Amino acid sequence: MANLEELLSQRLVPAFESVAGRPVDPVVRRSQHAHFQSDAALALARGTGGNPRDFASRVVEAAQLDDLCSAVEISGPGFINLTISDEVLGRLLADMAGDERLAVPQAKDLETITVDYSAPNAAKEMHVGHLRSTIIGDVAVRLLEWQGHTVIRQNHIGEWGTPFGMLVEHLLDIGESEAAHELSVGDLNGFYQAARRKFDADERFKDRARKRVVLLQSGDETTLHLWQTLVDESKKYFMTVYGLLNVRLTEQDFFGESYYNNQLQSVLDELGELGLLSESVGAQCVFPDGYTNRAGDPLPIIVRKGDGGFGYGATDLATIRHRLQNLHATRLLYVVGLPQSQHLDMVYDVARDANWLNPPARAEHVGHGSILGDDGKMLRTRAGASVKLVDLLDEAVTRAAAVITEKNPQLDEATRAAVARSVGIGAVKYADLSTDRLKDYVFDYDRMLSFDGNTAPYVQYARARICSIFRRAGVKQPLRDAGTPAITEPGERALALELMAFGNLLAEITETLEFHKLANYLYRLASNFTNFYEKCPVLRAEDPAKQTRLVLCDLTARTLELGLGLLGIESPDQM
Ligand code: ARG
Repeated sequence: MANLEELLSQRLVPAFESVAGRPVDPVVRRSQHAHFQSDAALALARGTGGNPRDFASRVVEAAQLDDLCSAVEISGPGFINLTISDEVLGRLLADMAGDERLAVPQAKDLETITVDYSAPNAAKEMHVGHLRSTIIGDVAVRLLEWQGHTVIRQNHIGEWGTPFGMLVEHLLDIGESEAAHELSVGDLNGFYQAARRKFDADERFKDRARKRVVLLQSGDETTLHLWQTLVDESKKYFMTVYGLLNVRLTEQDFFGESYYNNQLQSVLDELGELGLLSESVGAQCVFPDGYTNRAGDPLPIIVRKGDGGFGYGATDLATIRHRLQNLHATRLLYVVGLPQSQHLDMVYDVARDANWLNPPARAEHVGHGSILGDDGKMLRTRAGASVKLVDLLDEAVTRAAAVITEKNPQLDEATRAAVARSVGIGAVKYADLSTDRLKDYVFDYDRMLSFDGNTAPYVQYARARICSIFRRAGVKQPLRDAGTPAITEPGERALALELMAFGNLLAEITETLEFHKLANYLYRLASNFTNFYEKCPVLRAEDPAKQTRLVLCDLTARTLELGLGLLGIESPDQM
């Protein structure tokens, strides 16, 4: 069975049409006054000059709702309030219980979607901006795959361009094995900064670096080999971070900037043939309409620089063409910080001008804000250096271990370590994902690890509590075939309705990619469960109430686990 909003809509659509003489979206939504409400009669009456309450009653008259609703009322100026009957709630719960997907259907139109995310830069420490992109992109991948789409992960790492001249020379200075060592243990910043210092202070080094860039770009074999060492060691290090974070990125998902090298000339040629190129101070540029700098001068995407090299902009043009024409993606997601939003808009516009990006294909910037320290500025260490991701995550796990030990001293050592990892990493991810991604947020260990409030531990704990109810009951989860629950209490009804909102919510965020709404839903569900559990004892109840409540418990646990899983967060059975 479909979700409730949809079921009610299906019944209201023909009724509205018969009254209005044309199709109308009944806009069914959750309501504070009843279970659901439809406000469409108001707008309809406004359009025709009729009386909205009149409209509403004619719609209700015409609608077939008896088998779904126990009450249908017109209220206020013309709202239609709908109360779902307990029998229907019970039947839907049974449907959910019997289905591994909790009765959430796959997306209707399945497509190929590329997700560009994480994208750190080789031989440079990943910063917290890459952390956000990695965490948010991972949720996009999990959700869209779960909805049935074909998802192609694209880790567009920065590993080409002028800095690699200086980095390769520095590698030669300290020796290949020392360089490999520094990079593989994650001292990427140390390595990068040492190279930078020499580049700034030493003219001869600077000169070597420049020549090295030329060698690299002309495909000199020794240089390419040295460059490859830098890239490979960096990738190894990034993989350890991904492992720690438990995200789905693999070695096969690296499609760095250099992957597009042999497509750059043809991008230049094609844009030239289309008449989209103009020369500006020696460089070949495209000037998409509507972008100017502060002085009002048109802004370019530089396709080929004056020195003949290709840069970030050219690579992004090759990338978007590749994703559309070779990967046949129809939805292209770019999970990148907000400061790059203009650059990406320009890339999309050029792709449209070049006729690569045409509907139904579309490109979307899944932008995100920054992570701030408690001083309200970009998160940095006390010494003012950029924070190392691994340190940040390790600290979260260490602190989680302390919290867990206090909360549950009986846990054996191995379980505690595993739980601390799930809770610590989960807390970092949840803190990120529960805020609107377009906003900045303050990184705060105490808050994210608190068992009260909208946090991972709170939601994880609600589920672990349910697992413990089942352990004490001696009943195995999941309850796939436990009969049709009989809802009688307000606490049961409220929880049932919240459970049923899951499918609709997932459909919505598949479109909007507003993942904080999923986190907030899980928090609401967990709170709802707490209320339910206070008023409706489970193990002390008699059948059939006991059975009904066990089904509600089981479905709550499964929904929390699935929802957290889509957020890339683990659900420990005890904590
Ligand atoms: N490496 C870039 C950075 O660190 C992010 C790349 C984003 N993806 C893209 N296709 N431009 O800022």
